[in-house]
Amino acid sequence: MSKDRLIIFDTTLRDGEQSPGASMTQEEKIRIALMLEKMRVDVIEGGFPIASPGDFESVKAIAQLVKDSTICGLARALEKDIDRAAEAIKPANSGRIHTFIATSPIHMQNKLRMTPDQVLEQAVFAVKRARNYTDDVEFSCEDAGRSEFDFLCRVIEAAIAAGARTINIPDTVGYQIPAVFGDMVGRLITTIPNADQAVFSVHCHNDLGLAVGNSLAAVMQGARQVECTINGLGERAGNASLEEVVMAIRVRPDVFPVETRIDATHIVPTSRLVSSVTGFPVQPNKAIVGANAFAHESGIHQDGVLKHRETYEIMRAQDVGWSANKIVLGKHSGRNAFKTRLQELDIELKSEEELNAAFSRFKDLADRKHDIFDEDLMVLMMDARSAQ
Ligand code: KIV
Ligand code: ZN
Repeated sequence: MSKDRLIIFDTTLRDGEQSPGASMTQEEKIRIALMLEKMRVDVIEGGFPIASPGDFESVKAIAQLVKDSTICGLARALEKDIDRAAEAIKPANSGRIHTFIATSPIHMQNKLRMTPDQVLEQAVFAVKRARNYTDDVEFSCEDAGRSEFDFLCRVIEAAIAAGARTINIPDTVGYQIPAVFGDMVGRLITTIPNADQAVFSVHCHNDLGLAVGNSLAAVMQGARQVECTINGLGERAGNASLEEVVMAIRVRPDVFPVETRIDATHIVPTSRLVSSVTGFPVQPNKAIVGANAFAHESGIHQDGVLKHRETYEIMRAQDVGWSANKIVLGKHSGRNAFKTRLQELDIELKSEEELNAAFSRFKDLADRKHDIFDEDLMVLMMDARSAQ
């Protein structure tokens, strides 16, 4: 069965950079953009060109250097923003303008102080203005997750008629729940008469820890672009994490009717780069890229993995850019893991009794010391042998 392509739109350099304390220099942004290109990300949102001269220059430099990904600049639905974004993406082989306006009652009344009709008119104006510069125009209904369904349908239909080729449905404040959000995206696609003229996209924030779940639920209902960031970086609790979205789709081809073109072996190096540039450490238990994502500590798990990797692993560490999985020796480790590590260190055991004695010393040590390193094992074996 042939599968649809899921477009991976990375916004680490724009929404990710909006994470308090995560601002990046132009040189750092370029290094990350080149890694994203190597990973075969389809669209790189390089920044918000009107926000500052530095952001403008970064998007422009990325557009000059990156040739295999589409380079996108963000713009409010304002003439000056759109013109600035257009100028920044001009050098790109393939450039996109991403324009947005809020459509939820709370944003329209309190932030924009505009009526729904004025918002609709502004959206149409913005898309048409952007289309003067490029055919690749994306329109986002900011806070779509809290917008009224009928109004969303009206705005989206008008934006497509004005020339938007990607329609993005952001859950700006991470308010949505997977089953409800998936259903909403599916209904938009089936209700809006000209929906087939655009790619539907989602952009989910992680305030309830549901950004990836919501994005995947939308993919099940017809979304064909997911906006995400490396390590889930982004405003407040962050955005959907690229590595989790990509690997969920890869690990469960039986569930998802889509595939991406991502080269996943670049995921871990890119995650490390983003972490070192921003100074945001990756939590050890973070899926895919956390230090413990492929580490096994308990005896039962270690024994299982040593007998057959897939007993406790659903993907290969090497496939996402780790050098190997890890058997971590500690107080929960079993005899099989202990023996295997000694063999890897070329420490030969002469008899079953020697293994038993060394293993019991190891357990005593592990009760006192949290992590047991190779050096500890070597000293332990020397002590065990001299005590004989
Ligand atoms: O979260 C959001 O709504 C955004 C838009 C600009 C797409 O970041
Ligand atoms: Zn966002």
